[in-house]
Amino acid sequence: MAAFGTQFTAKMVTSRFRDGQWSNPEVVPVEPFSMHPATHVLHYASECFEGLKAYRTESGDIHLFRPDRHVARMLNSAAQLLLPIPDEAALTRSLHMAVAAVADEIPAYPGALYLRPTLLGTEEDIGAAARPTQKALYYVLTSPVGDYFAGGLQPLRVKVEDRMQRCTPSFGAVKTGGNYAAAMRQIVQARKELGADQVLFAPGGVVQETGAANFILIVGKEVFTKPLDGSILPGITRDCILALAADAGLSVREEDFSVAELLAHAPQAEAALTGTAAVLTPVGELVYEGETIRVGDGQMGPWSTRLREQLCAIQSGTADDPHGWRTPLEA
Ligand SMILES: Cc1ncc(COP(=O)(O)O)c(C=O)c1O
Repeated sequence: MAAFGTQFTAKMVTSRFRDGQWSNPEVVPVEPFSMHPATHVLHYASECFEGLKAYRTESGDIHLFRPDRHVARMLNSAAQLLLPIPDEAALTRSLHMAVAAVADEIPAYPGALYLRPTLLGTEEDIGAAARPTQKALYYVLTSPVGDYFAGGLQPLRVKVEDRMQRCTPSFGAVKTGGNYAAAMRQIVQARKELGADQVLFAPGGVVQETGAANFILIVGKEVFTKPLDGSILPGITRDCILALAADAGLSVREEDFSVAELLAHAPQAEAALTGTAAVLTPVGELVYEGETIRVGDGQMGPWSTRLREQLCAIQSGTADDPHGWRTPLEA
């Protein structure tokens, strides 16, 4: 299968905002947009997006995974960016329509259909740097994805960065392209200079998250992670893993912890990234100020293995879904 993010289905769902109103979402062919060079998003980055998955289980049933939470997060992103806010029910329906339109192209688990709802400002006005766009468009692009971990689950090497920040502090909970643009240079540099897979941002010495995933630290029977204070993305996988950890009898500690605490605990701890693409991926090494600190024995630990397997079993449909995370596809 092609690399993640490079293969798309031929149909998507779109809706446009004009004259104060959203049009009814419709299924259209995936084809290039024509845009005036003055389009708002091209100048003032008025855009936000989401990433979620639909799965086909062994019995052939199709479900979307926690679409309600992704829709809520997208509406919040839109509100923070002063973009026209889609109607919640219409956006939810758009996700189902996008999946239904390509239902026979959803690979069986561990493959999935990745959904990329995207909202952008389309007003043609380069004078609107400090004025919200009055026109907008959202679309739901879909991409069949294979097993992200086909090559095996390799523990990651992660640079701990305690000076630079991932994004502007008040925008941490907003899923907008500008945040990724802001973090990119740090990540590329860490890869080049340290062979790191990712950067764990900890501005001022407080551990936050990486460029595209949340971070958890498991010490004994306690799971530590940054609280949702607006500085990090409220990850939906994070929420799942914390719920499963609590179910398994771990104590969930959503509280700030420092780089010094992280590094002191690391040799006896487990650490992992959580996210839709990564599910739960172990961190084997931290790199801080040129020094490499091994996390546990450098391999995936028992709690990480168990929590990952439990979440995968719910996503694949082989385990019960006590929290109601699977949402059957509405025809
Ligand atoms: C910055 C950032 N943090 C966390 C996450 C994980 O969020 P989720 O679990 O909802 O995919 C993502 C991925 O979307 C992300 O880009």
